[in-house]
Amino acid sequence: MNEQALIATAKAMVADDKGLLAMDESNGTCNKRFAALGIPQTVDYRRAYRELIVTTPDLGKYINGVILYDETIRQQKKDGTSFIKVILDAGIIPGIKVDIGAKDLAGHPGEKVTEGLDGLRDRLKEYALMGARFAKWRAVISTDDSLPTRGCIAANAQALARYAALCQEAGLVPVIEPEVLMDGEHTIHQCSDVTEESLRAVFKELYLQNVMLEGIILKPNMVLPGLSCKVQEPVDEVADATIKCLLRNVPAAVPGIAFLSGGQSPELASARLNAMNARFKSNLPWGVAFSFARAIQQPALEIWKGNEANILAAQQALCHRAMCNVAARQGRYNVDMEKSGQSNS
Ligand code: 13P
Repeated sequence: MNEQALIATAKAMVADDKGLLAMDESNGTCNKRFAALGIPQTVDYRRAYRELIVTTPDLGKYINGVILYDETIRQQKKDGTSFIKVILDAGIIPGIKVDIGAKDLAGHPGEKVTEGLDGLRDRLKEYALMGARFAKWRAVISTDDSLPTRGCIAANAQALARYAALCQEAGLVPVIEPEVLMDGEHTIHQCSDVTEESLRAVFKELYLQNVMLEGIILKPNMVLPGLSCKVQEPVDEVADATIKCLLRNVPAAVPGIAFLSGGQSPELASARLNAMNARFKSNLPWGVAFSFARAIQQPALEIWKGNEANILAAQQALCHRAMCNVAARQGRYNVDMEKSGQSNS
């Protein structure tokens, strides 16, 4: 394992107040999002959409790394240039989702465990040869009055740690994503407790599997009330609860935390990230960044709708969200940026 190279990559992924763009939706998830907007669910449309994203002018000004999917990493632009080359030419680090999805966890109704460890060593080797420098694995944890179970937390934490160790062996930085889902009526306090328990389990397993913490990125949820919870705390309270939970559970050796957006609106995700950095940035041991999919992509997808004539406007919307999130890392995001469509005003 080349420790210095891993550390350098992990640092580069969260450097300069930029973040990561997740564009690693599985075909099933991508098709679902296309279907909701009447976009044909074909390999050609998925390729065209991903070409729109990777060719967005100035993307590298705001994004350090993009997370690809197995289909996407093998694709090219219409003119034959590989996506990997386009990404590298933009000064962006390519990464790859390597889990094969969350499946029902036997013996635990209503809970999932993420699979994909079988054959992972060989797949990582192939992705590294293709140019990937980091990988991603997402575990999902549901919350209600009786969930999650300890069995679900333990199974997912162990899988994340085994994945992370294999990534580092292959020279890839593991992005470790234990996502406490927003769905449900649970309170922000329940989310905090579950996030804490899950992070404790993950870091214990990372320790047992000899994962070098300086060479990982943590991709957690923010600490939020459930989407159907009657009480929705204001932005500053979410920022306080999230940072308190992370300070208690994420070792200072970790170079960066890059949040998932999880179904928050793009504007709220930016506002909450901004509040964390505005209130705490100078006192935190790790960079607090973003690795959003929907909170960066969704407005662009809604503009594009599969129509070539909309590509430029969609790219502008994508870039705008990326800019807003860089501003949020600097604690200088505000709602006026949404009105003007500019984040550097
Ligand atoms: P969202 O930001 O849409 O939650 O996606 C992040 C991600 O990578 C999910 O695995």
